[in-house]
Amino acid sequence: MSLLILLYSRTGNNRVLADLIAHKTGAQIAEIRPAGRYPMLRVIWQMATGRRPRVRKLDHDPAAYDRVLVIAPIWDMHLAFPMTEALQDNRAAMGSYDFATFCGYVRDGQPDVARRELTECIGHPPVRQMELHVGDLVPAGQRDDPRKVSAKRVTAAEMDRFVGQIDEIVGWYDPA
Ligand SMILES: Cc1cc2nc3c(=O)[nH]c(=O)nc-3n(C[C@H](O)[C@H](O)[C@H](O)COP(=O)(O)O)c2cc1C
Repeated sequence: MSLLILLYSRTGNNRVLADLIAHKTGAQIAEIRPAGRYPMLRVIWQMATGRRPRVRKLDHDPAAYDRVLVIAPIWDMHLAFPMTEALQDNRAAMGSYDFATFCGYVRDGQPDVARRELTECIGHPPVRQMELHVGDLVPAGQRDDPRKVSAKRVTAAEMDRFVGQIDEIVGWYDPA
């Protein structure tokens, strides 16, 4: 079974997750890149205006793989914009897929919004879905502060804290 990870990560957390899953499954990673510079100010401007970034053509064809795992952060309850743009651009190539996010924290309804947006972009929903939370790695007194949680940069060593969830994701592709 061949697996492609479609990855967008602006500050590296979802890249750490994707690298670990790729290492454990042998998956290839196709990284989504905005066409130009994409600083946080532009992200915030796009949140306010509804504008979206253009993204570069993928260097792997999702249609050539048995399964695709989409990995991207959540911004203000929404799938990160470069990922929604890339999924729309590659909609025809997307067969069966799953979704995992290394996002900040639990928010009511957040997984449902991600599922709805994925379905709108691709035309069918993910088979499986998983949220990991960076907030689990910040001191308890800072977990309610979105700025503190969003500033957290995860290291590969800290991924031990998420071993149960990572094993579950890997198990999606290795049913043995
Ligand atoms: C502007 C902004 C808004 C965010 N909004 C949310 C949110 O609504 N829900 C959530 O769980 N995390 C939210 N986060 C946290 C990110 O999802 C988290 O920091 C993620 O790990 C970043 O991924 P990356 O390092 O791969 O880019 C937000 C972060 C930023 C910068």
